[in-house]
Amino acid sequence: MRTARVNLRGDRDYPIYIGPGLLEKVGDFIAERDLGSEVFVISSPTISRLYERTLTGGLRRAGFKDNKMALVPDGERHKTIDSWRRLVNGLVRFDAGMNKRVVVVALGGGVVGDIAGFASAAYRRGIPFVQVPTTLLAMVDSSVGGKTGVNHPRGKNLVGAFHQPSLVAIDPDLLGTLPARELRAGLAEVVKYGVIRDERLFRYLERWAGEILDLSQRRLIRLIDRSCAIKARIVEADERETRGERTLLNFGHTVGHAIEAATGYKRYRHGEAIAVGMLCAADMACKLGLLDAEAAERLEGLIARFGLPTSATGCSPAEVWAALQHDKKFIRGTNRFVLSESIGKVKVVEGVPARVVKRAIRDRLAGKGG
Ligand SMILES: NC(=O)c1ccc[n+]([C@@H]2O[C@H](COP(=O)([O-])OP(=O)(O)OC[C@H]3O[C@@H](n4cnc5c(N)ncnc54)[C@H](O)[C@@H]3O)[C@@H](O)[C@H]2O)c1
Ligand SMILES: [Zn+2]
Repeated sequence: MRTARVNLRGDRDYPIYIGPGLLEKVGDFIAERDLGSEVFVISSPTISRLYERTLTGGLRRAGFKDNKMALVPDGERHKTIDSWRRLVNGLVRFDAGMNKRVVVVALGGGVVGDIAGFASAAYRRGIPFVQVPTTLLAMVDSSVGGKTGVNHPRGKNLVGAFHQPSLVAIDPDLLGTLPARELRAGLAEVVKYGVIRDERLFRYLERWAGEILDLSQRRLIRLIDRSCAIKARIVEADERETRGERTLLNFGHTVGHAIEAATGYKRYRHGEAIAVGMLCAADMACKLGLLDAEAAERLEGLIARFGLPTSATGCSPAEVWAALQHDKKFIRGTNRFVLSESIGKVKVVEGVPARVVKRAIRDRLAGKGG
């Protein structure tokens, strides 16, 4: 088993355990760290069908006898205030006015993790919660860092709170049942870490892309470990996204989010839109003379190797441009992009000329590349 750590001020440090077979050990980890005496598991129907028994078996063996399971329906459209309210009501009933020491376990992808985290953040102004991510995206990104929340009709993740988990347990065996498309979407975020911070990780992905797609456990553990460490260092430096480091995680996300919005959040998985967004950012960086064409080609090559899209369809450049204008990172009319200078290094650039942005969008929507 590997362990990464998130070192936060106060007594809010937490471990990220990574290793096969960890699902059964979640109860032991909770007991070791004395996180609570009653466990409230939050999951979804698909995931609980596959993994509830293993998790709850381990919980019982660790001494948690009366744990309760609450399910949120699968899918982003259920990441709502309504689902959150149902979970909070479930917690109130479970607690039954006894002020039990309840610990929440989020068993699922980013949707379950975000909503379970937000329920834990709000109930009694914050109770401990444990992330047990089941998608690659959740393993390398959403389970670490403490951003929790739900969507609102007026915006994605519009309502939420910062609430760090007390521990994260990542069992790569769970990826065995994950649909291939979801795996690839998660890989987009791993590629992102390579571009923003770690040329070695990027090379590793290039070298072992085939084995990774074939779910080589050794390769997966290594890339999850490295991704979590990068995310942990960035979160430590800028826990609440007030200092700028966390902004770097938005590489590819500005145009990526606009593509998701312009296609109604239906056509692309988040990671797929981000793949195209990263290529737009690379195209812009090349046009501005920040990045050489060879590095941009490497990025495009790796994205293609992972079976991710290198251009988008289903919306027009004008629709993507319109969606960009709503981005919260666009401050008072001037735009702001995270652009790559080389593989492993990015910076925030303000005021990119509109023609450069529009050109990149047009090229990546027409499927030409460039
Ligand atoms: N909090 C953060 O910092 C953060 C960061 C990135 C993304 N997010 C959020 O994460 C969400 C996306 O998360 P996601 O990509 O994990 O999607 P998801 O949670 O919707 O899961 C994708 C699908 O895979 C299924 N699934 C999950 N694990 C499985 C497994 N092991 N086997 C078989 N099926 C499985 C789920 O039931 C679901 O249908 C978005 O809401 C996004 O806003 C949050
Ligand atoms: Zn992302």
